[in-house]
Amino acid sequence: MKYSKVGKGKIYLGDTKDIFPKIAEDRFVIITDPPYNIGIKYDNYNDNLPSDKYKSLFSIFHNYRAAIIQYPEETMEFIVPELGIPNKVLTWCYNSNISRQFRLISIYNMIPNLNNSKIPYKNPTDKRIKKLIASGSQGTRCYDWFSDIQLVKNVSKEKIMVEKNSKIVPVHPCQIPIKLIQRLIAICTTKEDIIIDPFMGVGATAIAAESMGREWIGIELSPMYCKLTTERVKEWRTYVDLKFMDTLVF
Ligand SMILES: C[S@@+](CC[C@H](N)C(=O)[O-])C[C@H]1O[C@@H](n2cnc3c(N)ncnc32)[C@H](O)[C@@H]1O
Repeated sequence: MKYSKVGKGKIYLGDTKDIFPKIAEDRFVIITDPPYNIGIKYDNYNDNLPSDKYKSLFSIFHNYRAAIIQYPEETMEFIVPELGIPNKVLTWCYNSNISRQFRLISIYNMIPNLNNSKIPYKNPTDKRIKKLIASGSQGTRCYDWFSDIQLVKNVSKEKIMVEKNSKIVPVHPCQIPIKLIQRLIAICTTKEDIIIDPFMGVGATAIAAESMGREWIGIELSPMYCKLTTERVKEWRTYVDLKFMDTLVF
């Protein structure tokens, strides 16, 4: 199968349903933020599929280790009927101007090790915290819900913006934070694994894996998103927070 190589990764341009079954191997750990089927406007994907068609996107991931990010209702309606009850569910909470303020991360066929990620101290200049940091502590314990990572908003440094008809607009409607994927890589994978995102978008998983020195694969329908991911992976240092990375064991 044709792919382009960048850093420690490979990018496949095309449909996951065709590509994933042909390249799948036991070393794969799927870490993905799939389309949510809620009518979001992507470059060349219709995010409004009939339920059965949407559900079938996930059937190819059966028996693979996977961490799948979704809203709670959609997790229950589409992911669980297709892949069964997850081994573990993590909850990612964030501030937003809509009523939905959390997503579930359904973990399949593996047990995450939460000890591999710490929640960064909120007040690192506090005297007592300074002492803890000096003694080697990078943060507090990570529980199975966390709220220290915010959404990528249009004003976020991480968001890719372009000028279109004299307006500054986002290139991709729903980038996921790189830190979230870095945390999932730290708690769900080992150095021997290959991290695969079958719905790569503009490459949060690719950048997270590259920054952590891991082998990775991305699959994406849009040539434009593939091109942007390639450029971003080459410059991954500008997109990651090295201080946050100190809180991870990987
Ligand atoms: C929610 S976005 C992923 C965003 C990504 N996490 C990021 O931060 O950039 C889902 C992506 O899946 C892609 N996609 C949808 N169906 C696909 C398919 N069948 N095969 C490959 N890519 C697909 C869409 O084009 C979209 O970019």
